[in-house]
Amino acid sequence: MTRHFLRDDDLSPAEQREVLERAVRMKQDRWGERPLAGPKSVAVIFDKSSTRTRVSFHVGISDMGGSPLIISTASSQLGGKETAADTARVLERQVAAIVWRTYAQSGLEQMAQGTRVPVVNALSDDFHPCQLLADLLTMQEHKGELAGLTVAFVGDGRSNMGQSYLLACATAGMHVRVGSPAEHSPEPDVVAAAQRIAAETGGSAIVVHDAPAAVADADIVVTDTWVSMGKEAEKAERVATFGDFKVDQALMARASPGAVFMHCLPADRGFEVAADVIDGPQSIIWDEAENRLHAQKALLAWLLERNAA
Ligand code: CP
Ligand code: NVA
Repeated sequence: MTRHFLRDDDLSPAEQREVLERAVRMKQDRWGERPLAGPKSVAVIFDKSSTRTRVSFHVGISDMGGSPLIISTASSQLGGKETAADTARVLERQVAAIVWRTYAQSGLEQMAQGTRVPVVNALSDDFHPCQLLADLLTMQEHKGELAGLTVAFVGDGRSNMGQSYLLACATAGMHVRVGSPAEHSPEPDVVAAAQRIAAETGGSAIVVHDAPAAVADADIVVTDTWVSMGKEAEKAERVATFGDFKVDQALMARASPGAVFMHCLPADRGFEVAADVIDGPQSIIWDEAENRLHAQKALLAWLLERNAA
């Protein structure tokens, strides 16, 4: 069975550690591993806009000796004209892996179903697991051993980032708290999955509807846009609803004194985060953005090796 990476818990705790250890090595020796030498191609498909994901996959595939094939859905047959399954049948005979940023998680599942090459979720409405690998790598660099750290995600708990934080941090043995308005809580099945994983790893996963309670003594404070791609029509309503969940200096003061601030970007300064927090001394967002490159290279190298075995 081909291994894919469609959600954060597709990697077991031991596998997540392996990928992160590999990312550390690949960051230290950027051109040392060339699993895509040939060059082998990797298709990277975008139904939604992107800067970081597009650049980091393009550069990472090139670093590993491969050829990135960046496809915009609007100029392809995918997206109404051809199914994800038919697209995968065509691509799998020519590329080493398929990376896809899309809307519905079910599209990724259809793409992966029966496909011989790994399919990687480059963001869906439900999860952003590549971002979480980069975020875990960044936390490890700044805070050391992940297991036992407390991380607070404040904002849209039902977003791809809120839900990925629950799964990925529980897998890493962390204590993860999501602080969101009640009507934007993560899906109950995602919370339950995170709690099952946390019971194995020694971590914990909870959802609260109070930002100060979420960040109390946290080692890491994270937020993301209140208006994810696809939700633009709800902007006014969301800005009104999320007002108490803004990360500002007063909220950061409730976290642990050495706490760091993270954001996957792009950011709306003045909305989900105050400018003096995201641009201040606790912010580690530029390391986080760079680590997309190293984490995704490690993930692709790991998946290619697993699927060859
Ligand atoms: N964080 C992130 O995925 O950024 P892009 O939308 O620019 O790819
Ligand atoms: N939650 C955001 C992440 C962007 C990288 C979105 O889906 O738009």
